[in-house]
Amino acid sequence: MPASTDRRRPRRGTAVAPLGSLLVLFLPGFCNPLAHASPSTSSGWHPPPTPSTHRPLLNGALETQETDGGVSSWWSPWPSQGWGPCVGPKATPVLPKNTPGFVQVFLDGGISQQRMGICDAVAVAKILNATLVVPHLEVNPVWKDSSTFGDIFDVDKFIEVLEDEVPIVRSLPEEYSWSTREYYAMGIRATRIKTAPVRASADWYLENVLPVLRRYGIAAISPFSHRLAFHNLPEGIQQLRCKVNFQALTFVPHIVDLGEALVERLRNPVHLETRVASESPQGPSNKSAGRFVALHLRFDKDMVAHSACDFGGGKAEKLALARYRKHLWHGRLLNSQFTNKELRKKGRCPLTPEEIGLMLAAMGFDGHTRLFLATHKVYGGRAQLAPLRKLFPLMEDKRSLASEEELGRVNGRASLLAAVDYYVSIHSDIFVSASPSNMHNAVVGSRTYGGLKTIRPDMALLGRLFLNKTLGWEEFRRMVRAGHGSGQRQITLRMEKQSIYTYPAPDCMCRV
Ligand SMILES: *[C@@H]1O[C@H](CO)[C@@H](O)[C@H](O)[C@H]1NC(C)=O
Ligand SMILES: *[C@@H]1O[C@H](CO)[C@@H](O)[C@H](O)[C@H]1NC(C)=O
Ligand SMILES: *[C@@H]1O[C@H](CO)[C@@H](O)[C@H](O)[C@H]1NC(C)=O
Repeated sequence: MPASTDRRRPRRGTAVAPLGSLLVLFLPGFCNPLAHASPSTSSGWHPPPTPSTHRPLLNGALETQETDGGVSSWWSPWPSQGWGPCVGPKATPVLPKNTPGFVQVFLDGGISQQRMGICDAVAVAKILNATLVVPHLEVNPVWKDSSTFGDIFDVDKFIEVLEDEVPIVRSLPEEYSWSTREYYAMGIRATRIKTAPVRASADWYLENVLPVLRRYGIAAISPFSHRLAFHNLPEGIQQLRCKVNFQALTFVPHIVDLGEALVERLRNPVHLETRVASESPQGPSNKSAGRFVALHLRFDKDMVAHSACDFGGGKAEKLALARYRKHLWHGRLLNSQFTNKELRKKGRCPLTPEEIGLMLAAMGFDGHTRLFLATHKVYGGRAQLAPLRKLFPLMEDKRSLASEEELGRVNGRASLLAAVDYYVSIHSDIFVSASPSNMHNAVVGSRTYGGLKTIRPDMALLGRLFLNKTLGWEEFRRMVRAGHGSGQRQITLRMEKQSIYTYPAPDCMCRV
């Protein structure tokens, strides 16, 4: 199987040997920029066979990548969509004269879900004319990060940008200091609002929370995630949500600096160019210099187990995932009534790294494409990533681009690591998300706002194509291209009940 052998191997030992010393010269600050590099960079090491579940397609992709030399039409920027950013209430903001009290929220989920919760909390405070307490972020049972609002977001800026709209305090005054998370955890409390329905209306808050505020001077709303509707809201509330999301919420400076450094290294990759030059049969190529694709790969154990799909790991995998499901969700699972085949046809199985790689290759992204892997953990680890890395040897992530020292303040903290991924993802030329999630929604919304491209895989189409084991590469490529266009489609406007954070037009944008 010629195409599956490492196509860079013949060059090993000649061009690759001086690479280490070059790096030291160019980038003294990098401790291990090639920590993950493909096996061919260390001489004498024989790579294990790439574990591929779509071997014929992978071979076909690797062959055309070498001979094709085309440039994906996806790289060209979006033609002007006729929409530009435009946030903040259109009327002059008014700060309430006398507020009935303090609104407190406790937010669960990962940072993208919390981000939406923060925007909604500001909106609810506005609806009630209340004073907002800087939201409390709960520790997520899966990610176990105890970072506070102030560890992630710039609190001064948050308060300052919103100072004409909603009064915000960092903490409660002395007389209310009893109103803590622990206090609510211990019993039924009159000031706790526990029953906010999902997507509650503004009237619901006026009828159910305002009386509590008036009586006690404080109301603590929890749970609060996804608790404010996207339609039928008073004038200006949507625009206020936009203002919070796109202007008031910024990451703390050390996260912005790190994100900025990663983007800079992806765009001006001294070490990456060296690697291409030494590996490409045609010599150095700059046809995609300065550009990169961010790939949000939500393919962690949770996602995989939750999908109830089969990922080719045989009986051992099935048993392990079943055990995990039982442990986490007590076996209750929406999808478990369907077979693997049915789930795939419906597009309900998260795409594997290999499948995403094949999709990108079919869209015309070649081996010089710089990929940034914005991801927390990949189920199956390096082995699972091997086919993707084979298609895209210039794949990077936080750890390959930054030194341990630079990562020191975010290491081991899932929310901060996710914030860095989020930052890089909203600054990439193209963003690809392999499964819908809160992070996906938040990044997609932000990119639409900034006029940047996103590739949304057609999961049902891909599911069907990957099930067909007789489909050849050319056919696969044709069908993927036909099914995804060339990235020139028009901006998607929000429909009444859709999320303003995923679809910021028209509420957060104006015609330009
Ligand atoms: C909030 O304040 C505005 C302006 O002062 C007022 O028109 C509105 O009725 C108030 N809403 C509530 C719920 O108090
Ligand atoms: C690629 O190199 C050519 C010739 O050196 C240069 O003119 C061109 O601007 C470069 N393209 C990019 C995207 O850097
Ligand atoms: C699989 O793909 C081949 C080639 O395009 C096609 O002839 C065949 O009908 C497909 N099979 C299924 C089950 O869709």
